[in-house]
Amino acid sequence: MDYRIAPSILTADFSRLGEELRDVIAAGADWIHFDVMDNHYVPNLTFGPMICSALKPHAKTASGQPVPIDVHLMVSPVDALAATFAEAGADYISFHPDASTHVHRSIQAIKNQGVKPGLVFNPAESLDVLDWVIDDIDLILIMSVNPGFGGQGFIDTSLRKIEAVRKRIEASGKVIRLEVDGGIKADNIRRVADAGADTFVAGSAIFGQADYGAVVRAMRLALGS
Ligand code: DX5
Ligand code: ZN
Repeated sequence: MDYRIAPSILTADFSRLGEELRDVIAAGADWIHFDVMDNHYVPNLTFGPMICSALKPHAKTASGQPVPIDVHLMVSPVDALAATFAEAGADYISFHPDASTHVHRSIQAIKNQGVKPGLVFNPAESLDVLDWVIDDIDLILIMSVNPGFGGQGFIDTSLRKIEAVRKRIEASGKVIRLEVDGGIKADNIRRVADAGADTFVAGSAIFGQADYGAVVRAMRLALGS
């Protein structure tokens, strides 16, 4: 399985975001996860598309390979902000279906801007919408915490939801990344992978430590990748 580790800059040092991005990419990050919050859909406020534009030139490896920017919109409404993040250089844009009045239209709008669309499911959110749009998306993001803050504890019931999503992806026959977000650590990432996840968001587990490379290596060791 080609696993991806996606550090969330939510827990990075906001006074040195460019440097933090370069450091975590040098530490082996596969993607960069942008947690966008509007203090409406979730009780927190983070950053907008200008930060994405500013950081985009730094989202590349030492050899110049682009590192995908994985934008997680915890905002409502969705469409206008998704459009500006697409212009700001997002590679993936995922949104919560309960935050959009027209989920299918929001997905199409993201695709029409050449960006990979994804859907994000909160701990109590049903997967039913996937019955009608799974063929239109490239990413399914399962929240293993309630959205809004880093540093929370992993919610174990999300393991059952990850298993259910893996079954749906296999039945679809499509290549869709299964990402999990919240409370991921080196000591639980294997359990999350065994449930069916292939992409892992980690904020405090990485940015809360001095040696980012050591944490990423420990995660990859636990994944056997
Ligand atoms: C919640 C955020 C967090 C963050 C990861 O809205 O989406 O889940 O990315 O935070 P940690 O890894 O610190 O739980
Ligand atoms: Zn997130």
